[in-house]
Amino acid sequence: MIEDQASSLRRMNQSRLIKVIAVTGGKGGVGKTNVTLNTAISMAQQGKRVMVLDGDLGLANVDVLLGLRVVKNLSHVLSGECTLDEVLVEGPYGIKIAPATSGSQSMTELTPTEHAGLIRAFSELRSQIDVLIVDTAAGISDMVLSFSRASQDILVVVCDEPTSLTDAYALIKILNKEHGVFRFKIVANMVRNMREGQELFNKLTKVTNRFLDVALELVATIPFDENIRKSVRKQKAIVEAYPTSPAAIAIKKLAQQAGSWPVPSQPGGHLEFFLEQLIVKKAMGDIR
Ligand SMILES: Nc1ncnc2c1ncn2[C@@H]1O[C@H](COP(=O)(O)OP(=O)(O)OP(=O)(O)O)[C@@H](O)[C@H]1O
Ligand SMILES: [Mg+2]
Repeated sequence: MIEDQASSLRRMNQSRLIKVIAVTGGKGGVGKTNVTLNTAISMAQQGKRVMVLDGDLGLANVDVLLGLRVVKNLSHVLSGECTLDEVLVEGPYGIKIAPATSGSQSMTELTPTEHAGLIRAFSELRSQIDVLIVDTAAGISDMVLSFSRASQDILVVVCDEPTSLTDAYALIKILNKEHGVFRFKIVANMVRNMREGQELFNKLTKVTNRFLDVALELVATIPFDENIRKSVRKQKAIVEAYPTSPAAIAIKKLAQQAGSWPVPSQPGGHLEFFLEQLIVKKAMGDIR
């Protein structure tokens, strides 16, 4: 029995539990993809093996931002044409990217079963990784909710616009009330200073404390920084193109912290990325 489970872990080719972080926000254009990529690259610079899932399945963001050439994408994994490992492309510092399709309506209209199929495909991953960061689409579609729910940590990116706060609140509310998520990590982006970041966080918690049973934590305050736009135009990440700029420093700090967020060692009772791995680890622990 133990031998079976050990060989199952070997088949998954993972020696350690994988940390999974979703980056979401409700509103479009708040900086989700930039936070995802720069956190991923910073964690790779800090020695972690990192993978990024472009969870905006119908409107590829991640590979475009890095100017990478993509041949196969997640639609080919879904159709069974190839495995997840076969669609991965390599980005800066060896980060691995699972690319989405560009301009595919059908990929934005997947059924919950198809989302679950994609999440389960990660259990078959053979590439060794320590961290998976999932960039999600704007909005509160099933796709965004499935990917967020299946992650261990949910980063909610907000900026100082009323619609960003209302959309973030709507997303937190639905994840809490309908999917039982209680903890959210907030990233205040495009702010003028730390105080503005804290005020933004206070505005959000004022409403969540009143109406929801959730715990929010402000994990990063990223300043508005022209160098982000400049690096997007260069198809580079800011932590690579302008590593000493204010936004790059804030994101590197976030990545450093994220490295020490604990990885749960027990399955949470719902569909998660790398669920099989958690079940096997737990069973092995129970037997010992
Ligand atoms: N801290 C920042 N300072 C200045 N500009 C920023 C900052 N963060 C993001 N931006 C800019 O905001 C725009 C949107 O960023 P990004 O594409 O990361 O957002 P998104 O939330 O992923 O958008 P979408 O919902 O469309 O996927 C980009 O032009 C980016 O350059
Ligand atoms: Mg995006």
